[in-house]
Amino acid sequence: MPTVSFPQLSQKWNRPRFQSQVIRIGLCVALVLGGIWFLLPRWRVGYSEAIQRGDIHILEDPLADGLGHPSFREVKLYEGSLPQHHSSGKWSVRPRYLFFPWASWGSGWNNIFQEQLMNTHLAYLSQRAYVFPQYIPRDHPPFPDTLENGTRHMLHIPMNAFVSGPTSGGPLSADSSDSLAGRAVPEEWWNIACPREQVVVVDLHQTMSELGIDSSKDDGGKILERWAAKLSEISAPCVSIEGGSVFDYILFGYRILSAWPSYGNSPTLKYFTWSPLVTAALFRNFHVLSSSPPPEYLLPKDTAPYRFTSFNPLRASEPPISGLLGIHVRRGDYEYHCPFLADIGAEYNAWSSFGTPGISQRPEFENFSRPAWPALLDYLDVPENISGRDARFNHCLPTAEAVVARVGRVREEAKAAGIASDLRRIYVATNAEQGWIENLTTLLKAEGWEVSTSFEMDLTLEERAVGQAVDMGILTAAEVFIGVGVSVTFLDDISVLNVVWMRQFSSLTSNVVQIRLAGGKDPRTIRFW
Ligand SMILES: *[C@@H]1O[C@H](CO)[C@@H](O)[C@H](O)[C@H]1NC(C)=O
Ligand SMILES: *[C@@H]1O[C@H](CO)[C@@H](O)[C@H](O)[C@H]1NC(C)=O
Ligand SMILES: *[C@@H]1O[C@H](CO)[C@@H](O)[C@H](O)[C@H]1NC(C)=O
Ligand SMILES: *[C@@H]1O[C@H](CO)[C@@H](O)[C@H](O)[C@H]1NC(C)=O
Repeated sequence: MPTVSFPQLSQKWNRPRFQSQVIRIGLCVALVLGGIWFLLPRWRVGYSEAIQRGDIHILEDPLADGLGHPSFREVKLYEGSLPQHHSSGKWSVRPRYLFFPWASWGSGWNNIFQEQLMNTHLAYLSQRAYVFPQYIPRDHPPFPDTLENGTRHMLHIPMNAFVSGPTSGGPLSADSSDSLAGRAVPEEWWNIACPREQVVVVDLHQTMSELGIDSSKDDGGKILERWAAKLSEISAPCVSIEGGSVFDYILFGYRILSAWPSYGNSPTLKYFTWSPLVTAALFRNFHVLSSSPPPEYLLPKDTAPYRFTSFNPLRASEPPISGLLGIHVRRGDYEYHCPFLADIGAEYNAWSSFGTPGISQRPEFENFSRPAWPALLDYLDVPENISGRDARFNHCLPTAEAVVARVGRVREEAKAAGIASDLRRIYVATNAEQGWIENLTTLLKAEGWEVSTSFEMDLTLEERAVGQAVDMGILTAAEVFIGVGVSVTFLDDISVLNVVWMRQFSSLTSNVVQIRLAGGKDPRTIRFW
């Protein structure tokens, strides 16, 4: 199809002008218009029209069907129906997009997602719509991904299976009054709206040095601010950042914290929501979380075209599930990672390090001597009679007995502080082996707790594919949360070999922390082992 550059067509399709031309020239112009329709740039065509024209193939994937992968058909239809690409002919100004094709992919979803949230905010500050990809995990047990002939066909999970807020095309305001042109669009739409010859490529490394940024040392606030200024100035509608990540994962130790005054109040975080799929899983399993009836915000609506949209996206700002203490107990891979993390002196991951004493005095924080961030209660304390290494290890991998002692203390402190008077049920989000969890459950019940775990959740195939998000939906909605602070992504002096290995680490706790803070939960309800 021939392409026509934007400025000419934008004038021809400007409505008032178009109508006056029709009056003046009549039929002649109608004929010309018929011709122009064929020359229409693709960005004026709606998503569903693009699907019909065969420009987007999202619904059918026989290989995935053969492997038994969930189809996410309704989620994809929902993404296709987002109003920001159904306004064909309505745009008076062409929307501006920001695409990050080099952002991380394939490793743990939480690592990828913490970068995507920052990228969404950078797009917002640059007056651009964020372009969101699908999640394609390198491996995702128990889902098979090897075809009979040995070729890999990885699971593809649409963003709206996890979340349905600003990062995945949802509104950037409480009442949906924000401009549709500013809302995120799927990568499939970027491919239609921004043909390669119209894309302005911004080279990551060249721009970092142009902006005077040392990405291995400088802090998140500086990087955010300078990049936003740079990207705002570019007039081209289609901008793609290539060569690496603006917010590289090694930034997600305490260096990211100086971005909080801007990011913590951003629409990206304030209007964060879990997906309707997550809401549905919580609704169906509510008896696992509480003996009360489910709150109103989890209930299905009866008027919706799809099952997916019959549930509301779960907002971070909804009231907590009363009486519930959500805990993240990471075992499995952490049983052999924690000794290493303790040896190398790993600190807390990203937003979990808001409790770091004296953090504003760190040399990285040029202009944030009086930071506007919440002080969390806990940070890697080292009891007097044990070494720093052992303290780290205990914070990383508490024994079942230590978990029991800690939840008891947190319950008392929450009661004394008047932030949660009646914690009685614990939800354990965990990858631990079942025998270990059974022992922990026995010990907790002996202390009078009601206990449930990730293993008791009854999930559909699609929900299982986003099981981490379901667990996190519970941890963000619980009255009080205890998580794992220690992580290795803090290090910045690492060998290439280690980089590959370290990317396996999840930032689940840190993401729960930021979403709780975004939803206005009291910082004192966020604790660590
Ligand atoms: C394996 O089979 C798939 C599906 O039939 C095909 O797309 C792919 O090219 C094959 N790979 C090889 C190496 O033959
Ligand atoms: C910090 O403030 C100084 C002086 O006001 C200014 O020159 C510098 O550019 C600022 N740094 C950042 C990262 O904004
Ligand atoms: C350290 O002191 C605490 C409190 O007195 C005690 O419970 C714990 O067992 C001691 N740990 C070691 C390793 O001595
Ligand atoms: C559970 O507890 C029993 C009895 O104390 C112990 O023998 C067993 O090793 C424990 N299982 C695990 C997986 O920790």
